[in-house]
Amino acid sequence: MTSHTSTSLAEAQKILNQAKSENWRVPSKMIMVTPDHFRVDYAINPYMTDTNGKLQVIKRDLASAQWRDLKTKFEDLGVAVSCIEGDPSMPDMVFAANQSFVFWHNQEPNVLLSRMRSPHRRMEVPHFESWYRANNYKVHTFESSDIFFEGNGDGILDPKHRLVWGGIGPRSNQQAYREMSKRFDLPIITLPLVCADFYHLDTCFSILSPDIVAIQTRAFSQESLKIIGARFPTVIEIDYEENLHFFAANCHVINHKNVVLQKGASQFVKALTRASLSVHEVETSEYLKSGGSVFCMKMMAF
Ligand code: ARG
Repeated sequence: MTSHTSTSLAEAQKILNQAKSENWRVPSKMIMVTPDHFRVDYAINPYMTDTNGKLQVIKRDLASAQWRDLKTKFEDLGVAVSCIEGDPSMPDMVFAANQSFVFWHNQEPNVLLSRMRSPHRRMEVPHFESWYRANNYKVHTFESSDIFFEGNGDGILDPKHRLVWGGIGPRSNQQAYREMSKRFDLPIITLPLVCADFYHLDTCFSILSPDIVAIQTRAFSQESLKIIGARFPTVIEIDYEENLHFFAANCHVINHKNVVLQKGASQFVKALTRASLSVHEVETSEYLKSGGSVFCMKMMAF
């Protein structure tokens, strides 16, 4: 099989022209990881230290309450949530978007396990692997040790086509997408992340409906902005400060209608309302201290 990955506008245009237009089956259930062992024990992104360079301190009870409220919000919006137990030695495991990449392939649910960049987080992956095996997924792994990939944090399904958007940056690399594209015959449009504040694609790119995407322009090159503009008729540009402080792009949308996001991104909320989307604000302050919010606190599954 051939590989279809691109970073140039011409190659991306070719991928978009060939992309199958039938709707791709995308997962609608959810996995979350219980938050009892969530802490900040090390710093692997710019948010995990405070302005004095000290590790952030998590208010444990508040973190648990915020996690419970988020889960309840998802359930109230009709999503079935399964939980994996956190592990005391894995303080970041609650960020469930990063350990795996779920996709529909050969008429069955498939999962590709991440090769996480930080050694602190690699041991989270087997916990997810057990869940997928118990739930009859076809499980795939990367063999090569020079591949890095952080799952749904960087690999985002495009529901309108059988197409994936892949962030390349501090966590995932081009080699990963080349291999994924070849092995699963997946067209992948890669987007280099050019600003250190936006270290996963899900911190700066959110597909809200088949034709609407929300992005943080500073995270992307001019070429990538043109590619995004060529695919989506509506591109909502998120204010830089709102994205930085409230992780606006790290929202999650249910059924192309209900957008769940951290409270406080007022300009973004107005833009969502103008686009006829319903807004559900939640509080994830403790998780922002670790560089994550709504989108990365769950994994979509079949
Ligand atoms: N502290 C975690 C890390 O740096 C946060 C992960 C947030 N996940 C995300 N997809 N943005 O890995």
